Amino acid sequence: ARSTAGASIDFTAIAPVPADVDALTVPPGWTWSPIIRWGDPLFDPAETFDVNNQTAQRQARQFGYNNDYTDLLMLPGKDGREALLVCNHEYTNPGIMFSETSDPAVLNRQRAVEMAAQGMAVVHLRREKAGQPWRPVVGSGYNRRITASTPFSVDGAAAGTASLKTKDDPAGRTVLGTFGNCSGGTTPWGTVLSGEENFNGYFHAAGTSPAEKRYGLADKESTYGWENIDPRFDARAEGYVNEPNRFGWIVELDPFSPKEAPVKHTAMGRLKHEGANVIVGSCGQVAAYMGDDERFDYLYKFVSSKKVKPGQGKAARAHNKTLLSEGSLYVAKFSGNSPAAEIDGSGTLPTDGKFDGTGQWLPLVVNGVSKVAGFTAEQALVNTRLAADAVGATKMDRCEDVQPSLKSGKVYVVCTNNSRRGTSGNEGATEVNPRNENRDGHIVEITEDRNDVRATTFRWSLLLVCGDPKTNPHTYFAGFPADQVSPISCPDNIAFDSRGDLWIATDGAPSSIGYSDGLFHVPLTGRNRGYVRQFLAVPAEAETCGPVVRDRDGMVYVAVQHPGEDGTWAAQNSYFPDYVADGQSAPAGSWRGPRPSIVQVYRTS
Ligand code: FEO
Ligand code: CA
Ligand code: CA
Ligand code: CA
Repeated sequence: ARSTAGASIDFTAIAPVPADVDALTVPPGWTWSPIIRWGDPLFDPAETFDVNNQTAQRQARQFGYNNDYTDLLMLPGKDGREALLVCNHEYTNPGIMFSETSDPAVLNRQRAVEMAAQGMAVVHLRREKAGQPWRPVVGSGYNRRITASTPFSVDGAAAGTASLKTKDDPAGRTVLGTFGNCSGGTTPWGTVLSGEENFNGYFHAAGTSPAEKRYGLADKESTYGWENIDPRFDARAEGYVNEPNRFGWIVELDPFSPKEAPVKHTAMGRLKHEGANVIVGSCGQVAAYMGDDERFDYLYKFVSSKKVKPGQGKAARAHNKTLLSEGSLYVAKFSGNSPAAEIDGSGTLPTDGKFDGTGQWLPLVVNGVSKVAGFTAEQALVNTRLAADAVGATKMDRCEDVQPSLKSGKVYVVCTNNSRRGTSGNEGATEVNPRNENRDGHIVEITEDRNDVRATTFRWSLLLVCGDPKTNPHTYFAGFPADQVSPISCPDNIAFDSRGDLWIATDGAPSSIGYSDGLFHVPLTGRNRGYVRQFLAVPAEAETCGPVVRDRDGMVYVAVQHPGEDGTWAAQNSYFPDYVADGQSAPAGSWRGPRPSIVQVYRTS
């Protein structure tokens, strides 16, 4: 293998880990510990986690379940010793969280716990000195839980419109809760954006209108059964038909302002938002890049109308928190530059040696005015997928994280997989989604024309076409020799380190290449561009989320989501991170089952 001298973090790549290994594997010379686990207390008086006596009230005072997007925001003036951890709690796994029951009263109590276990968390962290591991500050005034019942305000052109009004909120401007929060992004002004993703699964709807069908809202019992304890989740009911329209947004939370209600930004469109990541253009306006994580759905860009105010002062932050409230929403259309006949669906490179081409950002709403024939701005923002269908956007292989490099301005679009591409009745391979039955995913690199965040045209090429090169001849690592890289499949969340290198977290590798999911490093420039190396692997049945790489501090953070997700209460498949096995007695505050956790990884010496 080539030297990696000069990499942001010097590590020896780990070997791929078989999918059934229930361990967090880190490189030699590194170790890990949980910062905070599902059920750990956030508030005074702190109660010890007791999985057998869990209540909604307790859960709302504890760290939530299935942590996804994660970031650590340093508190100013504390020499790197204090930070705010912000994370999403995407969903719940009742089958492994609770003992089995068919008693409706017990089921309803469990559902109430789940409503309190989803959403978001803010946790004040402290450590002795920079470079050391962190501990939560229980009872800090910064600590916060956002649940399925927390009030949000709504802004943008669809706020207060008929589409958002319900019996409980006739003004259409106050929504209770957030859920399905997948990935996100931290803004240059120090707020956190969070994507409401699979919101359709929370509602029992009529499922008859074109919009309901397009968003997967159906006439069946919801995944979580919350309609049994809160009538607004039955969208067939009088007064609640619009309740699903109040989810599927990008939300913005200011962790430094613990009393402030988070905001849902309708100007950024409604879809199964994975997340949103912001870059400030040289013009001063900001762009947010966003993916809709569904097979054959689209890639979006939002450009603010207003310009950023520099600095983190009170007035600047107050202004910057309005930047995502008004602007223009675009959807991507890609064109390849190789003959269509050369894109055969196998992943074989075309004769020009690259999957590449040009693209356009097609306007949906510009400064609050619809650009789509037959759609008002309200309709284009609430039923964004229908508006994007109407303008002929490019169907993608499930866009997960979409993130601009703040070093280069290039945008990285993570297409996690699409096993249905090219199958009967579905669109086949195109140059930007070049494999049929794409199980391993790929990453698109976009360069805006003139490097202008406002550009409506761009160039693109594929950075990676993922897979295990030992068994798959059709992988691509930006031209780097495939026999030297770590096998990688189903890229999902990404982060950049201080050098601008890309770190890739995966979700789904066990079912495609048979290895555990993990975290991988890849340089984007120089002779090691495309040299993918694995840094860590997560425990059995978990996906790797976060990630956060603070190379100058020697710290890497990941959110370990849904460890042991296919187990049952009686037969758990993971014991991460407490590792209390069956038959052992659990120390106070732990138990014999998996706990989704935020993990810190650091050197032993
Ligand atoms: Fe929640 Fe798109 O993964
Ligand atoms: Ca080409
Ligand atoms: Ca994801
Ligand atoms: Ca995923």
